[in-house]
Order: sequence, then C-alpha cells, then structure tokens
Amino acid sequence: MIGNLNHVAIAVPDLEAAIATYRDTLGANVGAPQDEPDHGVTVVFITLPNTKIELLYPLGENSPIQGFLDKNPSGGIHHICYEVEDIEAARDKMLASGARVLGDIKTGAHGKPVIFLHPKDFTGTLVELEQI
Ligand code: CO
Repeated sequence: MIGNLNHVAIAVPDLEAAIATYRDTLGANVGAPQDEPDHGVTVVFITLPNTKIELLYPLGENSPIQGFLDKNPSGGIHHICYEVEDIEAARDKMLASGARVLGDIKTGAHGKPVIFLHPKDFTGTLVELEQI
C-alpha cells in the first residue's frame, strides 16, 4: 500500500545550527524557514534528489514537538512519512488491522491530507501517511 518515502522529519533544538549543518557541512539544498502556526512548528524543507528532510522547530506555547525535545534534548528523528494514494482507504485499512490512528485525517504541512500512526504499532516509529 505505501509508496515513496515523502520525508523524514527531524526535531531540532537549534534551528540555525541545524540549517548550518545541512547547508554547510552536508552541502544540501536547504529552504527558508516557514512558520506553520496551525501545526505549532517552524519547518525547514531540505530537498534531496529522492526525498525530503524536514527540520521541525517548536513555534508557540503548545508545540506538539516540545515534549519530544524535552525527552531528546539534542533533537532526533520525529517521524517518517510515506505516500499513499487514498488516505481514507489507508486509514480504514490501519483501523481494520488494529493499528492505532492518532486523531482524524488532517491537512499536513504540504496542504495534503495526512494521518499519524502510533509508534508502538510501527516498530517504535511515529509514521505519517500522506495522500499524494
Ligand atoms: Co511530516
């Protein structure tokens, strides 16, 4: 069912340092920071030839990644995102297999419908499915 790896999201405690690491040390194509108030994050998109990396930095008081950074003060991989063709069919298949879907279908950072899946049901990794 899942298709391409759309992105790997990395939560970072220092956005400028993370940008410098990817742009200067790794030589990647790093975009400008974009505030996403609806998601409580500032996002930096890094475009690779075959996928994307998203740096996530907390925005506002109740950012959903603050707890992750409290537990992982150096930052770390927050989630991975796979592409699916039909988000409703994907959600129904996850529920039918007994996997925990976190919340409802939402509009993700790319303006496309997404769902998140509980890490305990997916080998310890928070998984995002995005309809492409
Ligand atoms: Co994502």
